[in-house]
Amino acid sequence: MTGTPTHSVRLTGWGRYAPAQVLTNADLERMVDTSNDWIVSRTGIRERRVAGAHETTASMGAIAALRAIHTAGLQPDDIDLIILATLTPDYWMPSTAALVKEAIGNTRAFAFDVAAACSGFVYGYATASAYLAAGMAKHAVVIGAELLTRFLDYSDRGTCILFGDGAGAVVLSASDEPTATVGIELTTEPQGAYMIWLPAGGSKSPSSAETIARGEHKIRMEGKETYRFATRTLASTALAAVARAGWTQDDVDLIIPHQANIRIIEAVAKGLDLPMDRMYVNLDRYGNTSAASVPIALAEAVNEGRVGIGDKIVFVAFGAGFTSGAVAMEWTADPAPGRTADDAVRAEHVSIRLPVDWDSVDPIPAALADILARPLPGHIDLSDVVPGEPEHVHPSTR
Ligand code: ACO
Repeated sequence: MTGTPTHSVRLTGWGRYAPAQVLTNADLERMVDTSNDWIVSRTGIRERRVAGAHETTASMGAIAALRAIHTAGLQPDDIDLIILATLTPDYWMPSTAALVKEAIGNTRAFAFDVAAACSGFVYGYATASAYLAAGMAKHAVVIGAELLTRFLDYSDRGTCILFGDGAGAVVLSASDEPTATVGIELTTEPQGAYMIWLPAGGSKSPSSAETIARGEHKIRMEGKETYRFATRTLASTALAAVARAGWTQDDVDLIIPHQANIRIIEAVAKGLDLPMDRMYVNLDRYGNTSAASVPIALAEAVNEGRVGIGDKIVFVAFGAGFTSGAVAMEWTADPAPGRTADDAVRAEHVSIRLPVDWDSVDPIPAALADILARPLPGHIDLSDVVPGEPEHVHPSTR
């Protein structure tokens, strides 16, 4: 998967979006038989984000994409390829990437989704790189976006505590500059096909009242088997990408792993014989956001100053399939523009068009209804403020 590219490819933009509403471990304690101590000690997760009723995988992906395009110093119509990785698409068809194309105001790109679960962003990155190297596109957006909280069984404490919502994106550009060193490794092991799966809704078992009564429209997982696969494969996949780049693991400045479980990340660090300060971790705030996990972590690592020009970084993921993927690359972009992206692209300015004669049923799972109804963090309730009557001004606005 290395070969000599005909065109050089560089990562030129990055951005991320996380919904405002927070689901804490204390919230989950009220929903299932679990505890903050168990979740923190077994996973490292403290809270995760939950998309509101107005949000979808496409809307979150579009915001992240626009932020990445801003960071790259491009306009939406400069993009000629959009790849979106997700296991929670807005619909079976059309692709979520097609919806994102319209939402960002792009007229030129060809757009499609990739399905590789939590490895999807890395698979999408590799796919876009190949298109750019082959001269089939000039600027690609690769998005990982997930709305997992609508596909969880809130009576299954083994899964519902793990996942959250969000989106991340990068822009890859064909470049006249020399290629930054890149090694890519992708693997698929179908013997793990039923270790993480969503049984109903596909052609084997189309959605029906019966599949819903059986709870087959929710994610199922064999946690222990998945854990074993992850610890074994993340390290070997990362090492293979590092070797393809012509490095050893000691050369790597920062590894950005899929944010599934802190114990998995610690095991990978041990397997690679690297200290934990070379592993980027933000799963305490987001949980596992599947295909969005690596691009959110990448954007945050760069914006926080953990990545600078010339650094050697590796991002690596594993997921249902079983799939895994890693990219080893030398960082070449000025980190500064990424820090202005959230202010430049406001979430409220991005929307996904619906057919005029259709509206969905309420998408919010009953278990999350109260959480999504409460005020957002930082929200100021102005409902009791009466203009002209300063004595009634809400205390928090004084
Ligand atoms: N709270 C309290 N107790 C719990 C919880 C919970 N939320 N979940 C499970 N337990 C209990 C179990 O019932 C079990 O009890 P028992 O001993 O009385 O039977 C006990 O805790 C231990 O359960 P284990 O499953 O052995 O716990 P483990 O340490 O393996 O942790 C976990 C479970 C966190 C799910 C872990 O296996 C894991 O992280 N696996 C990988 C999952 C993953 O990363 N999935 C994402 C895949 S990516 C994709 O493509 C979507």
